[in-house]
Amino acid sequence: MAKVSIISPSILSADFTRLADQIHEAEAAGAGWFHVDVMDGHFVPNLTMGPFVVEACRRSTKLPLDVHLMVEAPDALFEPFAEAGADWLTVHIEACPHIHKSLEAIHALGMRAGVALNPGTPAGAISEVLPQVDLILVMTVDPGFSGGKYVPEMLDKIRSVRSWQEAGRTKALIAVDGGISAQTVPAVAQAGAEVFVAASAVFKHPQGIRAGIHALQAALELAPA
Ligand code: DX5
Ligand code: ZN
Repeated sequence: MAKVSIISPSILSADFTRLADQIHEAEAAGAGWFHVDVMDGHFVPNLTMGPFVVEACRRSTKLPLDVHLMVEAPDALFEPFAEAGADWLTVHIEACPHIHKSLEAIHALGMRAGVALNPGTPAGAISEVLPQVDLILVMTVDPGFSGGKYVPEMLDKIRSVRSWQEAGRTKALIAVDGGISAQTVPAVAQAGAEVFVAASAVFKHPQGIRAGIHALQAALELAPA
C-alpha cells in the first residue's frame, strides 16, 4: 500500500500573538495539515483551546485542520468543532467508552474520524472499530504538553498498526504525535507513520518555522516546498 508523508504542525507551540502569520509561514514551507491540541485540564493536566481557535485557524488557511481532543466526554464537542471548521477530529480511546457511537457521530457531522492511543494503551484496544477509523494517532509522549519526552517503545505499536494496513484490515492513516523532531522522525517513518505532528520542532526551531519544517522534510527525505 502506498505510504503518504504529511507534516502537521501543532499550533500549541505557536506564538498566538501572530498566529495567522505563523500558519502562513508553515504552510509556505510545506506543512500539509495543521494540528490543534484541545485539552480540558481533566483528561490531561493542561488547559488549552476550543472551537474559537479552530475557527481562527480556519480563516487563516485552507489546509486540513486536524483537531486532537484530549478531553473527558468529548462527544458534546463534536458539533461545535465541526461548525468551527475541523476536517479531522481525533478522540482518545481512553476517553470514549462508546467509541463506535462516537465515530459514527463524527462522520455524521461530515468530518474524518481519528482515534488516539496513549503510550500505555495497546493497539488492540481499537481492533473492533477499524472499519470506522480514518486515522490512528499513536501518541509518542504522554499527552498534555509540547516538548514532552519521546517514548521510543511506541515504534512497536506503529509497526503493529502498519501490519494491519498491509493486511488490508484498515485504510486509516497512521499518525504520530509527541517528541517528533528531525532526530526521531526517521524511525517513526520507517516503522510506518504517515502523518507527523510536531509542535516544538516547528514553532520553536532556533532558526525559525521554515527551518523547522525543512529539517523534518530533510530527515524524511522529502523535497522541500
Ligand atoms: C501532546 C500534544 C502534542 C504536542 C506535541 O500532548 O498532543 O500535539 O503539541 O508537542 P511536541 O511536538 O513539542 O512534542
Ligand atoms: Zn496532539
